[in-house]
Amino acid sequence: MAVDGTAPVRTGTDPVLSVQDLVVEFSVPRRRTVHAVSGISFDLFAGETLGIVGESGCGKSTAGRAVMQLPRPTSGSVALNGTDLVELGPSALRKVRAQMTMIMQDPISSLNPRRRVKHLVTEGARIWRVHDKKRLDERAREMLTAVGLDPESVWNRLPAELSGGQCQRVCIARAMMLEPQLLICDEPVSSLDVSVQAQIMNLLEETKKKFALSMIFIAHNIAVVKNISDRVMVMYLGKACEIVPSTDMENMVRHPYSRLLLASIPDPERHREQLEPAPEIEGDPPSPLAPPSGCRFRTRCPLAIERCSREEPQMRKMAENHYVACHRV
Ligand SMILES: Nc1ncnc2c1ncn2[C@@H]1O[C@H](COP(=O)(O)OP(=O)(O)OP(=O)(O)O)[C@@H](O)[C@H]1O
Ligand code: SF4
Ligand SMILES: [Mg+2]
Repeated sequence: MAVDGTAPVRTGTDPVLSVQDLVVEFSVPRRRTVHAVSGISFDLFAGETLGIVGESGCGKSTAGRAVMQLPRPTSGSVALNGTDLVELGPSALRKVRAQMTMIMQDPISSLNPRRRVKHLVTEGARIWRVHDKKRLDERAREMLTAVGLDPESVWNRLPAELSGGQCQRVCIARAMMLEPQLLICDEPVSSLDVSVQAQIMNLLEETKKKFALSMIFIAHNIAVVKNISDRVMVMYLGKACEIVPSTDMENMVRHPYSRLLLASIPDPERHREQLEPAPEIEGDPPSPLAPPSGCRFRTRCPLAIERCSREEPQMRKMAENHYVACHRV
């Protein structure tokens, strides 16, 4: 087990997923390289939810997809129940992949527009032969009911005949038909309106408990991530800055970037009393084509010192399940 932020939540148990030093780089024209994910490590335990949060472009989706091996990471290891997926050939990987599934950011475009709900919900389970063929339709109806849809009324509909919230429910039902051990949710509510967001979040939590899933929950909104997660990993420009338990997160966070993210959550009290606006993170994030030397946050960090440009901060343990990468903490 790596020392950087991967301490077990429950000692004595093996992680369902163990990601070590994950690197994902993309080659782009003019011989340049996008450093999308640059060496993140974490463990995920049975029944646990790890939230991943950070600004747009920091590598959250790429990290989630690399866990799924879509695409294969540039380097690092991704062990599911002790089997390193990076080492597996295509056919062995296909078998293991049924144990993990991903719900995408945009529910409507992630569904084939020409397929009806009955096909959308059953097709993965049919391919992976998760259920007896005779039981497949019955199970799909049960799953649609579990996600709050009336199977009779949606069974023959196309995605265009459903609302965004209904499409996301179909995506969740489809994912759950595979009976996965690991569910990766990539911004599953950000394209939905606020009232539907709350319903889908509740549904995800219930589903997770009911099926004893381990979950990675990706979002750029730290308030959303905090509510659903047991631990939160804060990412900045392809790196993990901090891994922190979500309970009492406000008092625990130490990394300057995590603190700014938390402080940026709108506070109704502050708004009502017309006090100072929430602090903002100044400047734009640097390009992942040429990340800054040393600490990647140094160009925007209010606490940066000379050492920050020279030396990359390593993850250090602050407390049980709490790790931070910063020279000034
Ligand atoms: N296939 C690709 N080819 C080249 N660059 C890519 C590719 N996929 C992602 N990137 C780049 O990698 C970086 C990380 O992208 P990613 O989609 O993982 O960010 P994100 O944190 O999920 O952002 P968002 O919150 O906007 O969804 C970005 O700079 C993005 O442009
Ligand atoms: S290492 Fe330096 S630049 Fe990076 S977060 Fe800490 S103080 Fe800021
Ligand atoms: Mg994304």
